[in-house]
Amino acid sequence: MNILILGGGGREHALAWAVMQNPKCDKLIVAPGNAGIAAIATCAALDIEDGGAVAQFAEAEAIDMVIVGPEAPLAAGVADRLRDAGLLVFGPSKSAARLEASKSFTKEICYAAKAPTAGYAHFTDLEAAKTYVRAQGAPIVVKADGLAAGKGVIIAETVAQAEAALDDMFGGEFGAAGAEVVIEEFMTGEEASFFVLVDGEAVLPIGTAQDHKRIGEGDTGPNTGGMGAYSPAPVMTDAVTQKALDEIVRPTMAEMARRGMPYQGVLYVGLMIENGQPRLVEYNVRFGDPECQVLMMRLGAQAFDLMHACADGRLEEAQVNWADDHAMTVVLAASGYPGAYQKGTEIKGLEALAADASNMVFHAGTKAEGGKVLANGGRVLNATARGATLQEARDRAYALVDGVDWTDGVHRRDIGWRAL
Ligand code: AMP
Ligand code: GLY
Repeated sequence: MNILILGGGGREHALAWAVMQNPKCDKLIVAPGNAGIAAIATCAALDIEDGGAVAQFAEAEAIDMVIVGPEAPLAAGVADRLRDAGLLVFGPSKSAARLEASKSFTKEICYAAKAPTAGYAHFTDLEAAKTYVRAQGAPIVVKADGLAAGKGVIIAETVAQAEAALDDMFGGEFGAAGAEVVIEEFMTGEEASFFVLVDGEAVLPIGTAQDHKRIGEGDTGPNTGGMGAYSPAPVMTDAVTQKALDEIVRPTMAEMARRGMPYQGVLYVGLMIENGQPRLVEYNVRFGDPECQVLMMRLGAQAFDLMHACADGRLEEAQVNWADDHAMTVVLAASGYPGAYQKGTEIKGLEALAADASNMVFHAGTKAEGGKVLANGGRVLNATARGATLQEARDRAYALVDGVDWTDGVHRRDIGWRAL
């Protein structure tokens, strides 16, 4: 098969790495890709949020199946456009992608499906929102309704902080994403990410992970896109997993189908677990980044068969071959991230590192120039490894980190501390 992956981060490098191992893959193109992806597949410059342009490119390249990495093309309706063109697509329609693109939509679906989640209220008016916050008290969570690149969530410790967040959001800090606001009850517990494939009807769990969102060790400092992750998540016991499927995932997916917007693709289920009870924090309509890197390392070549069955509506007959293993990824970021950082610094030493079924440095934000690999983003590399235990995966991942020669790079030394 000829396969096109949309995206150019560490998530897409890991997806490309898994797809390339599958003998069903004849040709792989990644758009736009990055320096690491270019070493294993063809990269193409393409506006991946322009469905017409992607469809035209896919036709010219005789593509059979498209795997959509990030949420922006999904929210823009690229999957619909490609399906209309007769392609197999791994990724939900624009209307189903609202599960990530609109927080109030997700809350409404949860309410209709009786899925456990934080209590909430939805506002389009600043004064009404402030009155509600004063009545509820703190801590309380204020969220911009739309896509805000992970920055639209404020955990307010005091009513004054919540009011300030509301002033910012209604004041336009998040653009159109903040014109509507969701205010939620603050949930306590331990967070985990649960990944399932959905083909409109059938639901297939493919793994669990935990990530570290803060920049600093001990989970301190500003939020980032994720500084590291590991899989599986110990808090996702069989009982919690079953509850999450029965009480949250299946009822909400049935509600989506009932409303005429069946979900197709990977569903990222963000959960808060307390006393064995999972509650939904959020849905994302794509793989997590860097959670995808640990999932791909554990699934290997079968990941493509699973995504293919999902895109083809054959999930019912698909099966995951679990290995009793663990994986960890450590993010190397440009110093200054998530604030201002430099681009273009040189990264050396990558060729000497192990690159096999248990050790891979995925590229998240790099570019090749004049035979050199240059940093080209905030999160730049994902040192990823697998082992029989989490400790073994950790030791291998940090051996990769320590082999990278990049003076501008920073990383956390404590990924996985909760589980170790
Ligand atoms: P979201 O973008 O909705 O996933 O929110 C980002 C992060 O904020 C989550 O991963 C949680 O750590 C935290 N968070 C979001 N909603 C809540 C809530 N209702 N209670 C506690 N923490 C939350
Ligand atoms: N690592 C969090 C996310 O991908 O949303």
